[in-house]
Amino acid sequence: MAEVIDGKSVAEDVVSKVKALTSELSAKGATRPGLAVVIVGEDPASQVYVASKSRTAKECGFHSVQHTLPADTTEEQLLKIIGDLNADKSIHGILVQLPLPGHIDSGKVIQTIAPEKDVDGFHFINVGKLGTGELETAFVPCTPAGSMLLIERVRGKDLSGLNAVVVGRSNIVGKPMANLLLAANCTVTIAHSRTKDLPALASTADILVAAVGRPEMVKGDWVKPGATVIDVGINRIPAPEKGEGKSRLVGDVAYAEAAKVAGAITPVPGGVGPMTIAMLMANTVASAYLAAGLKRPSF
Ligand code: GUN
Repeated sequence: MAEVIDGKSVAEDVVSKVKALTSELSAKGATRPGLAVVIVGEDPASQVYVASKSRTAKECGFHSVQHTLPADTTEEQLLKIIGDLNADKSIHGILVQLPLPGHIDSGKVIQTIAPEKDVDGFHFINVGKLGTGELETAFVPCTPAGSMLLIERVRGKDLSGLNAVVVGRSNIVGKPMANLLLAANCTVTIAHSRTKDLPALASTADILVAAVGRPEMVKGDWVKPGATVIDVGINRIPAPEKGEGKSRLVGDVAYAEAAKVAGAITPVPGGVGPMTIAMLMANTVASAYLAAGLKRPSF
């Protein structure tokens, strides 16, 4: 059976390190890290994520600000708030929760965030830095950055000679994940809905990352024996066995089957999920260190 990669425990390690770095920053007389989270509208899942981000920021000792805006907020109003946060010296990280309501141009909003406060890593400057291997100064999107820490726990930092297959080509996960694996010397293939014979391709992977948003799509016989399997998916599916109207969370990987073949695998929940918020805190404390003219801490 595969080693189960405990994302909750690794995320706790990251948060502990962020707390220590925050204390050290205060001891040096520098401004404590400030994170602003902006949410527009009432999407319940987004509300839960945002509350959790603000709570963890407080736990880390950050200055934590949340802007909860009504669904009919105009693009102009939102851009004004971002402009103010860009100019605010007490804020080192700005996160605008996605998706935004349809009348707002998300791309324009993201590109308005100052790149040095873009702790989501979505600004073209940060995307370009990651794409050109400027990892020392880039902000890397939190979910792939967290997935990479989990891979390093199993495989170490240098992945030379390993084949990686990333299933999914989103800007938030698939593409940055592929770039991180490439920077760590993997031979990387990005697969997606138009890929021919996905099971055969997946079974060449020493590192298999599933980020497609389709419940249990990756089957046990797609997994190479001994592979490291990272399941980024969080899908809620009906669970009538738990009672009428009940549901449960599953990943993009058929876990029970895959765990029989893999060398190591992330569970859902408790794998990649907890890493996302932890890496947001890591990016924010890093931004505060840079703003204070100090060396950027690494994780
Ligand atoms: N919505 C879902 N995931 C994310 C994320 O990583 N960042 C932001 N800003 N919004 C999201």
